[in-house]
Amino acid sequence: MAFSTDQSVYTPAPRENRKLDHLPGSYGLPLFGRTFKALRDPLGNIRTQYETYGPISRTNVFFQKSVNLFGPEANEFVLRDRERNFSSRYGWDRALGLLFPRGLMLRDFDDHRFHRRIMQEAFRKEALADYVNMMNPEIESGIAHWADNNPLLFYPAIKKLTLDMAARVFMGLKLGPEADQLNRAFMDAVQASVGVVRVPIPGTQMWRGVRGRELLCRFFASMIEQKRASEDGDFFARICRAETEDGEKFSDDEIIDHMNFLMMAAHDTTTSASTTLIYHLAKYPEWQERLREEARALDKTHAEHGDMDHFQQTGQAFREAMRLLPPVVVIPRRTVRECEFAGHTIPANANVAVFPGFVHRMPEWWKEPEQFDPDRFSPERAEDKQHPFLYVPFGGGPHTCIGMHFAELQVKAIMHQFLLRYRVSVARDYYMPVQALPIPKPTDGLPLNIERIA
Ligand code: HEM
Repeated sequence: MAFSTDQSVYTPAPRENRKLDHLPGSYGLPLFGRTFKALRDPLGNIRTQYETYGPISRTNVFFQKSVNLFGPEANEFVLRDRERNFSSRYGWDRALGLLFPRGLMLRDFDDHRFHRRIMQEAFRKEALADYVNMMNPEIESGIAHWADNNPLLFYPAIKKLTLDMAARVFMGLKLGPEADQLNRAFMDAVQASVGVVRVPIPGTQMWRGVRGRELLCRFFASMIEQKRASEDGDFFARICRAETEDGEKFSDDEIIDHMNFLMMAAHDTTTSASTTLIYHLAKYPEWQERLREEARALDKTHAEHGDMDHFQQTGQAFREAMRLLPPVVVIPRRTVRECEFAGHTIPANANVAVFPGFVHRMPEWWKEPEQFDPDRFSPERAEDKQHPFLYVPFGGGPHTCIGMHFAELQVKAIMHQFLLRYRVSVARDYYMPVQALPIPKPTDGLPLNIERIA
């Protein structure tokens, strides 16, 4: 069987079109362009670009020339992509192509639609209900000792918890040496995807990543038959059995590619969003109490799928955390044909990007955008509803995050148990220092004062 680790089956994106001089903007420094500014202050960098040049302009970051588009209309133009102008595959290729080829996000148009329809089977309501039931015992044991060390370094703690939950829910593994080994392999692959060295030279992160990927591929391959014949409720088993009404299903190789990609797409994003949420709850104790009251009102130790509508306030706070710090900071695409936006021509084969985190703070749309104010998502205010592409932490259009309900379920299930058991705080003058790229995380691990209350 030709596994996806076989580098010969990886076809890189065609060379980018760098003829963008006709567009407003500037490339910045020779060679490095605006890379240093983008690393130092990503949001400030694109804000200046928007304020200087308007909704579309050219730039040069990370040795790539690209066209940046700003605002909800730009989001809609690129993400909804009614005219099929944009390739997601070639947009994401540089970051993800080598280690996560042929994942759902690296497929386009009819091929993408075909795969998404099959995958949707593993995200049906009854599947989500099973997943949350599998998550709950992992959460309970995972958070049991979080108050043993005070302060609690929240980021590494939640990262470990979500990883253990992924082993259980995605791969159907119980905690133990096998889960640890596969988790390690998975982390190596994810780390490598953001590494500077892009060739697997022995000893580099990319080399460890490729080896990690090989281990995961071997594991998935060895289990497919057994999972297909099983009635297991984990994600892997469901993907193996998934079949549309028209009888469409995945081949073994496709299952392996999708499993690798999904675990990557699910993990750091949920970890980042949970961290941002907890930071704000520690910073704004009145909101923490509102959410705790909501958790207590459920009168259950574990939240189930049918309880999700109960968590209105938690849902608003979660949305507000992702407004301020969306886990996917930039959404890249590549044009497959010439197209036009705001009176400017974008040539074929050009890199294009939209920025959820920027649009989420545009003062033209949001009231006091820098403030943590979950009530802006209340039915009465509904600031996010002013434009369908104003609030896009999960993207939009054909590539909208397929795991968004899963992510919300997971965060609510964790929050429920956490808030019933612990109270957390930070000093009044503490501000979480954030490394924004590739996925936001606190550079200090987010130390929280933690107190057990049950
Ligand atoms: C808070 C957590 C999450 C956030 C903020 C998030 C964000 C996103 C965004 C912005 C996209 C669209 C990217 C694009 O258009 O290029 C996306 C796509 C995707 N996400 Fe998520 N995600 C999260 C959790 C998850 C989870 C839990 C899963 C799986 C269980 C998942 C699986 C995927 C997949 C497979 C895609 C590709 C969809 C497609 O191309 O059709 N994500 N996600």
